[in-house]
Amino acid sequence: MEIRNTITDITNKKIENKKIVALTAYDYPTANLIDEAGIDFVLVGDTLGVVVLGYENTIPVTMDEMIHHSKAVARGCKKALIVGDMPFLSYHTDINDAIKNAGRFIKEAGTQAVKLEGSNERIKTIKAIIDAGIPVLGHLGVTPQSVHQMGGYKVQGKDKKIAEKIMEDAKLLQEAGCFAIVLECVPALLAKLISEVLEIPTIGIGAGSQCDGQILVIHDLLGINIGHIPKFVKKYFEGYKLMLEAIKEYKKEVQEGLFPLQSHSFSIEEENLPKIY
Ligand code: KIV
Repeated sequence: MEIRNTITDITNKKIENKKIVALTAYDYPTANLIDEAGIDFVLVGDTLGVVVLGYENTIPVTMDEMIHHSKAVARGCKKALIVGDMPFLSYHTDINDAIKNAGRFIKEAGTQAVKLEGSNERIKTIKAIIDAGIPVLGHLGVTPQSVHQMGGYKVQGKDKKIAEKIMEDAKLLQEAGCFAIVLECVPALLAKLISEVLEIPTIGIGAGSQCDGQILVIHDLLGINIGHIPKFVKKYFEGYKLMLEAIKEYKKEVQEGLFPLQSHSFSIEEENLPKIY
């Protein structure tokens, strides 16, 4: 039986100076692929809302949607640590609700940790979730659940004031007990500095190469995201193009009687056929 990665395996990688590799996943077959590739941890991100469910942003995503998809990922991943992303308003209104919602990821869905956005304004909530025995992955920089407050998905921390705030927020998350922090869309040099200052690992997305690890949205990596592709994404596969070609080929072969062939069909002895005179 595979032994699943723990948060200690993740934090030890920083000590051993080895890069942490993470990806998002939202379903069973992708979780299988990610496990087979030996990815360190998988985030069932609330990007689910955009890349799988077709919402405009991550704000409408519900706890039930996150639990449903996290369960599928948990069935497919035997080795990677699984982190469930707490959706908008699942941890903002009341600390007890936040603990219960974080607990649903662990008890119902089978994840080993949760992620939530923000720092100073969420620190009591983050501490309470960690005190309940649930590991927390922090998330700073561009925090998509605050898209309206940020006025879009602009790089965060180019100016001194915000750069200092992100550094202070990162230290607060470390003090609160987070096992790692996602840095999304912050300047590379700021991410490098934060990574040097912190003992816990930083996981970058659009934060340069000097973070302790990297994460990408799997649909971006595979080229099956038809929406906006941010500058920080590297497409490793033309998934949409190749899948479209396959679907069109199927359509053509059905229309031309080239599919299915005899090899795709089941046989019956002639005498067993019903008589229809
Ligand atoms: O929801 C998500 O997929 C994320 C990653 C972009 C880090 O938060």
